Amino acid sequence: MKAKLIDLKKIYDMRGSMLVFENGHNLPFELKRSYFIYDIPSDSSRGSHAHINLNQIIIAASGSFEVEVDDGEHKKTFLLNNPSKALFLPKMHWRVILKFSTGSICLVYASAIYDESDYIRNYDEFKKRVLLSS
Ligand code: TYD
Repeated sequence: MKAKLIDLKKIYDMRGSMLVFENGHNLPFELKRSYFIYDIPSDSSRGSHAHINLNQIIIAASGSFEVEVDDGEHKKTFLLNNPSKALFLPKMHWRVILKFSTGSICLVYASAIYDESDYIRNYDEFKKRVLLSS
């Protein structure tokens, strides 16, 4: 599985903490888009799709949630509860994001602009594509 946690160096002093993402430094792709999800009901489930070409980084900017990741062969659940531990989620990884804590914020960095045709929203189709590419 190519999905993995990335440790970010925290810059902190008495005034607070800072985390930096920078093209060419600690991002495994060039950043083209960022979005965040907030006001998330605790019983909400997001994702349930994979991307054909998109690479992403997911961060619990506030609070916590879990990301269930499946590369078609192996499954792994990542608990994100610390903004300095970001999840790198490469293309062709099915993900379900759930168990959101109250007030959590899911921050996402992405390698391309929004393109609905890059989504695989059907799990069987995802499995078929993984088999075809192996
Ligand atoms: P979606 O990616 O399915 O949400 P999630 O994976 O978090 O459950 O996106 C939800 C809706 O928002 C969908 O109609 C597409 C739209 N959307 C955009 O217009 N631009 C974006 O950058 C994203 C991520 C989604």
